[in-house]
Amino acid sequence: MPAAHPLADRVPATAFLTALARAGATAEPGSGLHDPYAERFARLCPDSVRRITRHTAGTPVVVARTVAVDRMLADLLAAGPWDLCVNLGAGFDARSHRLDWPGGCGVIEIDCAPVLDLKDRLLPAATAPVPVERLRCDLRDPTVLGGLLRRRTAGRRTLLVAEGLLTYLAPGEVRALAAAVAEAAGADGAWICDLLSTASARALTAAARAAGTDLTLHGLPDLAVFETVGWRCERLELLPTAQPSTRPGGTGRHLPDGVLQLSRAAVPAG
Ligand SMILES: C[S@@+](CC[C@H](N)C(=O)[O-])C[C@H]1O[C@@H](n2cnc3c(N)ncnc32)[C@H](O)[C@@H]1O
Repeated sequence: MPAAHPLADRVPATAFLTALARAGATAEPGSGLHDPYAERFARLCPDSVRRITRHTAGTPVVVARTVAVDRMLADLLAAGPWDLCVNLGAGFDARSHRLDWPGGCGVIEIDCAPVLDLKDRLLPAATAPVPVERLRCDLRDPTVLGGLLRRRTAGRRTLLVAEGLLTYLAPGEVRALAAAVAEAAGADGAWICDLLSTASARALTAAARAAGTDLTLHGLPDLAVFETVGWRCERLELLPTAQPSTRPGGTGRHLPDGVLQLSRAAVPAG
């Protein structure tokens, strides 16, 4: 086992868990996901974090989520042009390096400093085939985020991605983030993100606690946090954990676990 990297201790477990799942899937023929960069992050994953994977749904859900985000992103990029893709909570996501980006589109990756400091060492921005800028920011602070994005997105058609992020934010924080990025995205922007139902968030929080971590996951009952600040859902792909009662045709009216593609819409009056 390689020696632990001194920067790895300060990295949130969630960033490593995602890399572990993608590295595992990449080593498995026929998994549908090929991320040749995931292994360089996964091999630094502390044992305490590896143990969490024994208690959670893990690899199949992360793989399904990543593949769905890749598919939506490819469709949107093909229907471009886009000037900028902002990856919120980018973690060890290697899309800047592994996707075919259209000419003229840059990438901004945002996460906390420990994650991006380690990523700078293991996957330098300068080695990507597109221009990549990495910004350290607490995404629970919409004022700071808005300040960082405003001048970078002004006059540029902007697409946002947030994979595996919103479930770690409380609904009020998701709403504040959604408002900040709606402003940054402008009238012709789009946003791909995933969410959990409230039932799945409760079950996963319990599983994380059983694994000895204090991770809390949050679910959303409906799309209000997006719609009230000017986003409209254009597309929804279900994740394998979506409960039958929340699937289309089920009797429930609650949101299922899924990946959403949002576009800008007028903010409802009142
Ligand atoms: C499950 S990981 C997903 C990472 C990446 N999107 C991917 O798909 O590989 C969640 C990421 O969100 C970041 N994150 C969570 N809360 C954050 C916050 N308040 N501010 C900045 N980043 C945050 C974590 O550091 C972590 O990298």
